[in-house]
Amino acid sequence: MKKILITGGAGFIGSHVVRLFVKKYPEYLVVNLDKLTYAGNLENLKDVENQSNYKFIKGDIVDTNFVQQIFKKEQFDGVIHLAAESHVDRSISNPMEFVYTNIVGTVNLLNAAREEWKDQLENKKFYHISTDEVYGALGDSGYFTEETAYDPHSPYSASKASSDHLVRAYHDTFGLPVVISNCSNNYGSFQFPEKLLPLFIHNIRNNKPLPVYGKGENVRDWLYVEDHASAIDLVFHKGKIGETYNIGGNNEWKNIDLIKKLCGIMDNKLGRETGASEKLITFVKDRAGHDLRYAIDSSKIQKELGWKPSLNFGEGLERTVAWYLENKQWLEHVTSGEYQKYYEEQYVKREK
Ligand code: NAD
Ligand code: DAU
Repeated sequence: MKKILITGGAGFIGSHVVRLFVKKYPEYLVVNLDKLTYAGNLENLKDVENQSNYKFIKGDIVDTNFVQQIFKKEQFDGVIHLAAESHVDRSISNPMEFVYTNIVGTVNLLNAAREEWKDQLENKKFYHISTDEVYGALGDSGYFTEETAYDPHSPYSASKASSDHLVRAYHDTFGLPVVISNCSNNYGSFQFPEKLLPLFIHNIRNNKPLPVYGKGENVRDWLYVEDHASAIDLVFHKGKIGETYNIGGNNEWKNIDLIKKLCGIMDNKLGRETGASEKLITFVKDRAGHDLRYAIDSSKIQKELGWKPSLNFGEGLERTVAWYLENKQWLEHVTSGEYQKYYEEQYVKREK
């Protein structure tokens, strides 16, 4: 049985990757290592938590001894590293957490993999999940390719860029079998309601203001989270060691246009009169260092690995809104901290 470590598996993207791997690969043991920060929620994995090929370990990747012990004990064949502090606004108010988890945490994992795999590198893979934000900001035209020079602007993107460089350095210096992918903005179910789409869905439902940063002119390239998970599956199994793959939706939206589209869908689903949700739009002070535009050229992964997004955006957004409206309890739990009680009930009491 292959043993795969997925870090950050209780988070938004990680939970989709865990679910995909547990269901698709019964011959793997999928080990989810997660600290369960405010963003980690085991309720995201209720449908797979009792599967025999799934195991959860609570732990902090910043804890060097813990990481070394887990690698020694479990003898992983592969690593898919998603654990991170992921929210740009939080990185502006508290950069240190990003330095610890995104940089120190990544180096702890690299060191442990290097130590445990040193006599047998064959068939091993360390897959680091990164972001398009490392490339900086685009003007009105052009795309990020795998050759675009790094130019991060926020503490979040700088910490991710730093971890990417370290992953490549461990390949070039120590021969560690690594692969990296850089993806654009994900959307879909189980995303913590601090990110644009779930936050605005939550606010519209509760008739609260929609805080649009600046003039709402920034552009993001949106990808359905399950399409990112399928790309991760491909890169993990078929990606070439030492390579980088850009993943994106080829689906650019100016924030204000996206928000208006969302308002329309919400009016419709909530049975409100047309234009009711748009009235909640409130322009607020811009995010510091706010990158104007991100857009990914994903032709490499499309040509070399045969990946392409499965869903058009209209369908994906409808599906996403429907999910948040149907899963009101999930949203209430993550906003009230109720999910921490869930962990207590599921795991701590069981351990006693
Ligand atoms: P998320 O914030 O939803 O989840 C992060 C997970 O990591 C949580 O479960 C959290 O508990 C865990 N974690 C945080 N610190 C930890 C630590 N010290 N030790 C162990 N676990 C820890 O993040 P996400 O949006 O799912 O992003 C996952 C990864 O994908 C990140 O590396 C992020 O940079 C990258 N990424 C995200 C997007 C996006 O649009 N969300 C796009 C491209 C890349
Ligand atoms: O591009 C990939 C990145 O996408 C990931 O690496 C990050 O982990 C992920 O958080 C996301 O970063 P963004 O900063 O693009 O996502 P966010 O949802 O925070 O914001 C999307 C856009 O909406 C951005 O231009 C800022 C704007 N915004 C966001 C919030 C939360 C608002 O105007 N108002 C808001 O309240």
